[in-house]
Amino acid sequence: MHRRTIAPGALAAASLLLAIPASAASGSAGAPGIGDPYYPNYGNGGYDVSHYDLRLTYRPATDELAGTATIRARTTQALSRFDLDFLLDVSEVRVNGAKAAFTLSGEHELEITPKTPLAEGAPVTVVVRYSGVPSAKSAYGFTTWHRTPDGAVAADEPEAAWWWFPSNDHPSDKATYDVSVAVPDGTQALSNGTLQSTSSKLGWTRYNWRQNKPQATYLATLAVGRFDITTGTSEGGVPVVNAYSKDLGDNDGAARASVERTGEIVDWLSGWFGPYPFGSAGGYVPNTTTGYALETQTRVYYSPRQFASGSNTSVVVHELAHQWYGDDVSIAGWKDIWINEGFARYAQWLWSEHEGEGTTRELADYVYASHPADDAFWTVKPGDPGPDHQFDIAVYDRGALAVQALRDAVGDDAFFAILKGWPKEHAYGNASVADFRQYAERVSGKPLAALFDTWLFQPAKPGAPAARAASVAKAPTAAVQPRSWKKIEATDDVHAG
Ligand code: ARG
Ligand code: ZN
Repeated sequence: MHRRTIAPGALAAASLLLAIPASAASGSAGAPGIGDPYYPNYGNGGYDVSHYDLRLTYRPATDELAGTATIRARTTQALSRFDLDFLLDVSEVRVNGAKAAFTLSGEHELEITPKTPLAEGAPVTVVVRYSGVPSAKSAYGFTTWHRTPDGAVAADEPEAAWWWFPSNDHPSDKATYDVSVAVPDGTQALSNGTLQSTSSKLGWTRYNWRQNKPQATYLATLAVGRFDITTGTSEGGVPVVNAYSKDLGDNDGAARASVERTGEIVDWLSGWFGPYPFGSAGGYVPNTTTGYALETQTRVYYSPRQFASGSNTSVVVHELAHQWYGDDVSIAGWKDIWINEGFARYAQWLWSEHEGEGTTRELADYVYASHPADDAFWTVKPGDPGPDHQFDIAVYDRGALAVQALRDAVGDDAFFAILKGWPKEHAYGNASVADFRQYAERVSGKPLAALFDTWLFQPAKPGAPAARAASVAKAPTAAVQPRSWKKIEATDDVHAG
């Protein structure tokens, strides 16, 4: 659609090719996708990013975002060309210091042709200068950039980066981040990690944020607006930074009553999952209207809608549980989404029991009893739901039921050892559902292939496990809605399906 090509030094590059054997000199084009069957064009082939340095300026009044991304990467093949995922307007690209030719193509591909082909295994620095009005850009007919009355927010899943920085947009390529954003005085810019410094000049304030642990691209967030920022430290020693739009209206009290419990909940979750993996925690509630929250690393995005019926610590538990299940250990591919959502949902069940609002057993029985065998709910396979069902309620509720089935099968000791051991086993890395099954088998000493197949991979309602049949048979009791249910459901009111 939108195509532009500039080829500085194209002739010089061509003459250089004559002097070097063709294979060594040219490499091949990096693939436009990283190979995820759910989203063939997401991410890219041929390189691995280690660090993103974003230096940006944002004008809330006009939604203009401009700046420079400096990307440190290493090639995984010889490259004549490679892509970044992006859709704003690019004015210049440099690769290892030299101006490179580039083309914006497809929905979100920035194709870059370096002046000199890149060797395999070589470090590479890519500088992209860009500007644009993110809200004016769409891909596949949608936008994930959320403008607010006083700013904007980048937070969505599985894609959000294209609207604000060029990236290798797939959870399997994690990197550290420095995000520096200048905004008009009186406005704040939030991102992940720790605020390193701020500076003020000629009516603009610059906020310098640093994420020093590996972070998936969809977990990077930017929020600009007029915020009230609170800081503190949890009893367990985790620094907490929260932010609330000054424009939350009636939801302000309930939002603060929920999100201000971040430190307490981080410490409580550490008891189940092990030490908090990052140097900072917190959340922000901008004046957006989305129906979902997102586990953006260290700085969770919440929509005011989650607090419209009153305070909701359950959604805080869900998003903070993702800091271990999703952020510290990230999925290998989008089909592995159960590891994120099944466990974040199960953490809400544990919290419900802790709060005396229904036990994990009661919640499992309730989910099982509320969906008859012919309910489409059971046609969704949490272990491989497909891109159209990735965020269906079944991935969450059937997903948590699968976690309970695992607990029933291996017993509490092994189950809680798995729960706590998994984040350590794959700290700051990536893993698949198959990796999880193998890990659970190793820790429990039990073969689990049949159990995983039944609960995660069959498009049908599993039979009640023998050990559970007695309790499930008490149908009237099992069908009583636990008191925590409505808060748990309010975690995301835009589930598909
Ligand atoms: N990971 C988010 C959560 O569970 C889901 C965000 C996407 N939700 C959606 N309905 N598209 O909190
Ligand atoms: Zn979630």
